[in-house]
Amino acid sequence: MQINSKIYFDNAATTALAPEVLETMTQVLKDNFGNPSSQHSFGRASKSILETTRKKIAEYLGVSASEIFFTSGGTEADNTALIGAVESLGVKHIISSKIKHHAVLHTLEYLQQKKGVRVSYVALDNKGYVDYQNLEELLKNSSEKTLVSLMHANNEIKTLLDLEKVGNLCEKYNALFHSDTVQTLGHYRVEPKKYKLHFLVASAHKFHGPKGVGFLYVDNKIKIDSFIHGGSQEKNKRGGTENLYGIAGLGKALELALLNVDEHQKEVKILKNEMIRLLNENFEGIAYNTDVENESLYTVLNVAFPYNDKSSMLLFHLDMKGIAASGGSACTSGASTGSHVLTGINAIPNQVPVRFSFSRMNTLEEVHKTIEVLKEILK
Ligand SMILES: Cc1ncc(COP(=O)(O)O)c(C=O)c1O
Repeated sequence: MQINSKIYFDNAATTALAPEVLETMTQVLKDNFGNPSSQHSFGRASKSILETTRKKIAEYLGVSASEIFFTSGGTEADNTALIGAVESLGVKHIISSKIKHHAVLHTLEYLQQKKGVRVSYVALDNKGYVDYQNLEELLKNSSEKTLVSLMHANNEIKTLLDLEKVGNLCEKYNALFHSDTVQTLGHYRVEPKKYKLHFLVASAHKFHGPKGVGFLYVDNKIKIDSFIHGGSQEKNKRGGTENLYGIAGLGKALELALLNVDEHQKEVKILKNEMIRLLNENFEGIAYNTDVENESLYTVLNVAFPYNDKSSMLLFHLDMKGIAASGGSACTSGASTGSHVLTGINAIPNQVPVRFSFSRMNTLEEVHKTIEVLKEILK
């Protein structure tokens, strides 16, 4: 999407608000200031928006409305699921992967250090795919109550997890299953029941909704304790007056994303494939940190440019020319230690990684302009 002639290719970090979402939110801000907990008509009107949105989201996911808890976003939902599994459900062993988002990794470190939880990391191949045989071994040999925490798509390299396979393994070994679907919900239809998920995490700002709002799905069969102590909001689990306009925006954004999800997939894949074609045609020594041969998350292309004098400051030069891309996760880009994800998969050496992430608001013209700018910088 061009904003004042700038190009935005960092949609894995966040997306622009869809105009219809802004409209929904503005209307709620203007017309529905009532507290959803109030009994009068103002409160009831707000409560109705809250519960209608919850129901709508539940329908998209094929779950019950009572299984959806609104949160301040993906980080809070991941924290809640993992800490809740340990504190409320007696989980003593968590199986995860070293290439998770920090919302999970740092929570696991906390649970390891402060709660004595055992954490195992499943083996990955050099493209970042989970070794399912190793996962089964870990599950088979786990004598404690176990949770498997694996994200649907990695936020940097975008390998996709076979949710169904992992769900079946978890069921076979009586383990709980948590998946961070922040990078995929809204880009795919995700059905928690089909995948036997106990926890699923989503964040609105990754699919053209507002920042600071998301939700946690918790399977009705399990019960976790309150995670924010206060009022009786969110079925006594998360106290605090609800972020009503954010929640309404989240509902609208998910509706827009899923309504035409097949079309969006097709359009975005065209952009990504054109970018791959032109990169291969115009630059020598290009490789990819994303698995471009198999099914990886279609919104992202992580390119490994060969390291040299011209490419060393590539992101900076792109930014100077008005093109926003990133070196990895928004949380890790800029860190001098580099990406834990690329380190975790023994990535291509001597590379300058550039993550281009697309959305339905991008155009082919922007891809072409970006290639021209890359030529100027690198040739
Ligand atoms: C995979 C993943 N999980 C969690 C988060 C955190 O979500 P939020 O920004 O809503 O807290 C992000 C955001 O970058 C993410 O990519």
